[in-house]
Amino acid sequence: MKILVTGGCGMLGREIISRLSPMHETLAADLPEWDITDGENFTSRCLDFAPDVIIHAAAMTNVDGCENATLDAGRINEDGSRNVAIAAVASGARLIAISTDYVFGACPPSKNWAWSETDLPHPTSVYGTTKLAGERMISMILPAAVILRIAWLYGHGGPSFVHTMARLGGEEGEPIKVVNDQRGNPTSTKVVVDVIEYLLNKPELTGIVHATCENQCSWYDFAVEIFKLLNLKREIVPCTTQEYPRPAIRPVNSALKKSVLNRLGYRTPDWRDALEEFIAKEFPKT
Ligand SMILES: NC(=O)c1ccc[n+]([C@@H]2O[C@H](COP(=O)([O-])OP(=O)(O)OC[C@H]3O[C@@H](n4cnc5c(N)ncnc54)[C@H](OP(=O)(O)O)[C@@H]3O)[C@@H](O)[C@H]2O)c1
Repeated sequence: MKILVTGGCGMLGREIISRLSPMHETLAADLPEWDITDGENFTSRCLDFAPDVIIHAAAMTNVDGCENATLDAGRINEDGSRNVAIAAVASGARLIAISTDYVFGACPPSKNWAWSETDLPHPTSVYGTTKLAGERMISMILPAAVILRIAWLYGHGGPSFVHTMARLGGEEGEPIKVVNDQRGNPTSTKVVVDVIEYLLNKPELTGIVHATCENQCSWYDFAVEIFKLLNLKREIVPCTTQEYPRPAIRPVNSALKKSVLNRLGYRTPDWRDALEEFIAKEFPKT
C-alpha cells in the first residue's frame, strides 16, 4: 500500500513511518513542504503521490500554547483537517485521522469512568475544541474516515511525560509534585501503531475508534510507575490540579472505553505492561 503520514516527523508520525516502511511505501508529509493549512498545495502533492491511505497525525499539539494562539490552533487542527479530508477525497484515499481524549472533560465523571465512542464530546480547552472541530470537518467531508482517538501518548525520542519524569527524577532537588486528581490512559506510540496496522487490514471499518492502553490512572500513579521502573530515588508527592495551575483546563477524567475494538475482539495491553516494554527499550540499563 502507499501510505502518506501527515505530521510524519512528529513523535507518533516517526513510529508509524518506521513500523510501516518495511511492508508499505510510506511518505512522511510534514512542514514545510506538506503544510496542511495550505489546502491547494497539499491536495496537489497528494494527487502526485496517489496514496491508498492517509494517516493524519499532524496537529498543533501544545495544549497550553493553543490557549493563547486560538487562531493558529483553529487553522491547523480544524482547517488543516478539513484540507486533509478534501485531499483524501480528491485522491480516493482512505483516511485514518488521529484525535484525542481531550475532546472530553467538561463533565467531570466519577472515578473509574471511561468515555465511549458514542458519548457526546465536551472539551475544556482550545486544543480539545479545535481537535473536535477537526473531527467533525473530517466526518462531514469523508464519512468513511476513521477517527482514531488516542491519549496520554509517549514514544521513542519524546517529548512526553515519561521523558520529563525520567529527566526530573535523575536530578537532585525538592520533591516533585504530580497531579493526582486527573485520570486517563497512558498509551505508547507502539500500541497505537499496532491498532493502525490492525485497521489497515479492516478497510470496512469507519467512524470513531478509541485506541488507548487498558485501565486508567492519575498522572501521579503514572509518575510513580515510571520512577519504579527507572529506579529513580527523588521523592514525588501527589498534588491537586489547583496546586498546579496551567493555562489550559485539563479533563478531570478522559479515560477512553475501547467499545469498537473490544466488540471486534481486539484488546490493547494494560498501560503498565506497555510502559515497562517502552522503558526497557528507551532507557536501557548500562
Ligand atoms: N501527544 C499526546 O499526548 C497526544 C494525545 C492524544 C492525541 N494526540 C494526537 O496525536 C497526533 C500526533 O501527536 P504527536 O504527539 O506525535 O505530536 P507532535 O510530535 O507535535 O507531531 C505533530 C507533527 O505535526 C506537525 N505539524 C504541525 N503543524 C503542521 C502543519 N500546518 N502542517 C503539517 N504538519 C504540521 C508538527 O511539526 P512541528 O513540530 O514542526 O510543529 C509535528 O511534526 C496529533 O494529532 C495529536 O493531536 C497526541
